[in-house]
Amino acid sequence: MDFMEEKIMTPFAMVIFGATGDLSTNKLMPALFNLYKTNMLPKDFYIIGFSRREMTDKGFTDFFENLNQDPRWGEFATHISYDHGTFEENSGYESLIETLNSYDKKMGACITRFFYLATPPMHYETILDKLSSTKLSEGCGQGSNKWTRIIIEKPFGKDLETAINLDTKLAQIFEEKQIFRVDHYLGKETVQNMIAFRFANGIFEPVWNKNFIDHVQITFAETKGVEKRGLFFDGVGMLRDVMQNHLLQLVATVAMEQPKSFTKDDMRDARSNVIKAIRPPENIKENVVRGQYSDYRKEAQVANDSKTETFAAFKLFVDTPRFQGVPFYLRAGKKMPKDVVEISIVFIQTCHILFKEYGCPEIGNVLTIRIQPDEGISLRVIAKKPGSKLSLGEVNMKFSYKESFGTQGLDAYEKLLMDIFSADQMLFGRSDELQSSWKFITEILNGWEKNNLVEYSQGQWPDAGDKLMERDGKKWLTQ
Ligand code: BG6
Repeated sequence: MDFMEEKIMTPFAMVIFGATGDLSTNKLMPALFNLYKTNMLPKDFYIIGFSRREMTDKGFTDFFENLNQDPRWGEFATHISYDHGTFEENSGYESLIETLNSYDKKMGACITRFFYLATPPMHYETILDKLSSTKLSEGCGQGSNKWTRIIIEKPFGKDLETAINLDTKLAQIFEEKQIFRVDHYLGKETVQNMIAFRFANGIFEPVWNKNFIDHVQITFAETKGVEKRGLFFDGVGMLRDVMQNHLLQLVATVAMEQPKSFTKDDMRDARSNVIKAIRPPENIKENVVRGQYSDYRKEAQVANDSKTETFAAFKLFVDTPRFQGVPFYLRAGKKMPKDVVEISIVFIQTCHILFKEYGCPEIGNVLTIRIQPDEGISLRVIAKKPGSKLSLGEVNMKFSYKESFGTQGLDAYEKLLMDIFSADQMLFGRSDELQSSWKFITEILNGWEKNNLVEYSQGQWPDAGDKLMERDGKKWLTQ
């Protein structure tokens, strides 16, 4: 690893609830294993999988077929054990207590405990109640509860009311400093770089406002469908799955004021102030697009009359002095033509009088931040086309993470896990931030016409999404 990261020294035990699920298999365990391989974990750490299936420790470590062929998996697996149980019954929690106590005994101290809720959200409240009633939340006694941390994944609630209820429950059991609400987009290198890019380069600040920016567009596109997550996704939909969290965080990063410092509270204040200022478009029914890909209803574990959206697009405004009146267009979809997440900041095109007769391009300067893949930033500028006659064309000035630094940095989950281990909450959602995002999303949920669902062909950008912009005389630049 050629960038500086601090190795974690303190021993810990991490319990993963929902240990055989999609998140644990595809994101958490690979991230933990990578941190291990790059020597970022302490000498003593314990990972305890908890799930319904009956399995031995060995059965559990063998379960990770995506990882267990790696020559170093065997030594990593010596740090892993498994307890099975339902989320509702005490017996599973009792064996967890025994397991955790045995690690404390081995270490001769109460070691830090992390409880990672990687289950479908419908189980959160049950697990939280059980953590409290079995006193697992209190650590091993002797005031060790302050070293216990709870990690909770999105979607955090289904709407404003359920988000508040969940937050209230969390607050009854844990102190705010123990709670880590995950939105893994905040851990992405490119998202963090936006802060550096905006505020460390003095040339952008003077133009980063409504006087120079025409609009902002954000595309989140995945070629995959719901895959094995039909049951989860059908109960959630695109708006709640990625827009309430990942996309609104991208909006916050574009629109935030300069934070007072790079500390947890100042960064969270800066993000939260934007999210609080977000307002939906007028006439939500007309200005919000809901789409579903063809044959979605035939996917495994999806209702055959499902009205869940696999695509959504809308316009929003950020009512701050800096961005007042600048539209932000957001679209997010599954079964799109390509995998791409990017933000384009489209500057107001002023065709200089000098060039009027030579045909100014319709779109001028655009700053594009590519979150993934090919992480990087490009700036579209106007240039003279080579030739004897004066004519203007567009070119891109590009920065690529891989080419410039030889690495894309830590994966988002690796970064967030490191922050959890070192108790740094800067990249985790705060209660007020979450409530503001749900307030906005709930307005959309209440305002949109559930039946107004357009079908789109798999692998194509939905027309209705294009029309949303065309109505305003604009177009999506990500094609
Ligand atoms: C998750 C969503 O939060 O983010 C998934 O639940 C989505 O539906 C995923 O596929 C995308 O994450 P990434 O890091 O692959 O862009």
